[in-house]
Amino acid sequence: MAAERIRAACDGRVPRLALLLGSGWAPLAASLQPRAVLDYAQLPGFPALAVGGHVGQVRVGTLHGAEVLLLSGRKHAYEDGDPRAMKGAIQALAVAGVTTLLQTNAAGSLDPAMPAGRLMLLNDHLNLVQASPLVGERDDRRFVDMAAAYDPALAALARQAARQAGVPLHEGVYAWVLGPQFETPAEIRMLQRLGAQAVGMSTVPETILARHAGLRVLALSMITNMGCGLAPEALSHAHTLAGAARAADDAARFMAALLPMLEAV
Ligand code: HPA
Repeated sequence: MAAERIRAACDGRVPRLALLLGSGWAPLAASLQPRAVLDYAQLPGFPALAVGGHVGQVRVGTLHGAEVLLLSGRKHAYEDGDPRAMKGAIQALAVAGVTTLLQTNAAGSLDPAMPAGRLMLLNDHLNLVQASPLVGERDDRRFVDMAAAYDPALAALARQAARQAGVPLHEGVYAWVLGPQFETPAEIRMLQRLGAQAVGMSTVPETILARHAGLRVLALSMITNMGCGLAPEALSHAHTLAGAARAADDAARFMAALLPMLEAV
C-alpha cells in the first residue's frame, strides 16, 4: 500500500538509493529539489513522529546530482520501546524498488583520536539492546546473515568519496544503546572494552530490517560529542546539535562526492 503510493508519487521512477537522515544531517535535506513529497501520515506503516526537529516526510528528487528518495524523520526505539518503529517504512522502500539504504546518525565517540565534528563510517555494529525488529516474523528469512551487514563495496566508495572531498573519515563499530538517557562514564568504559568506536541510539534496527528486505546498507555517523566522561562537557540534546553544526560543512562536501558514486552502482 505505502509502496504503491511511493511508486505513484514517483511516476513509476523510484530511485534505487534511499537516504535515512538522522539528527544533525537535516541541512542536507534542504539542498534537495523534490519532484515528489509525501508525509509519513499518508503512508500506511510509516511511523508517527513525536520528537521536535524530526519531520516525517519522504522526498524524492535530485541531491548533489543523484536521484534519491530521502526519508527525513526516524522513529527511535526509545520512544516507546519498540525496535520495529521503522519496519513498515523500510519494507515499503524495498517493495517500491529501492536497492540501497544510506543511513546517517549522530553518535558519541569512544575513541580519543576521533573528536567531535568528525565523520565515521560504520563497518559493523553491536546490538547491545539485544532487541530485534524481526521478532514476530515467522519464516526462515528472519535468520538474516549479518556477516557483511554494512556493504564492503559501498564502504570502499565512501572511502574514495572522502579522499576526493578532502574530508577525514574514521571507521569503526557502532554500539546501539536504547537511550534516551546518555551513558554513564562506566558504560562508556565498558563500550570501549567491547570494541566499539562510537555509541548511539539508532541505525541498528534499520540495518537489520534493510538486510532482511535485501537492501544494501551504508551507514555514517556524525560524531557530535565525546562519550560521557571522556571530555569535560555536559551532554544534552542541544550539545549534540551544536556538535553536528561543526561537522555540517564536511558532511555536505562528503555527500556531494559520495551520492553520484552511489547512484552509479
Ligand atoms: N551517546 C548516545 N547517543 C548519542 C551520543 C552519545 O554520546 N551522541 C549522539 N548520540
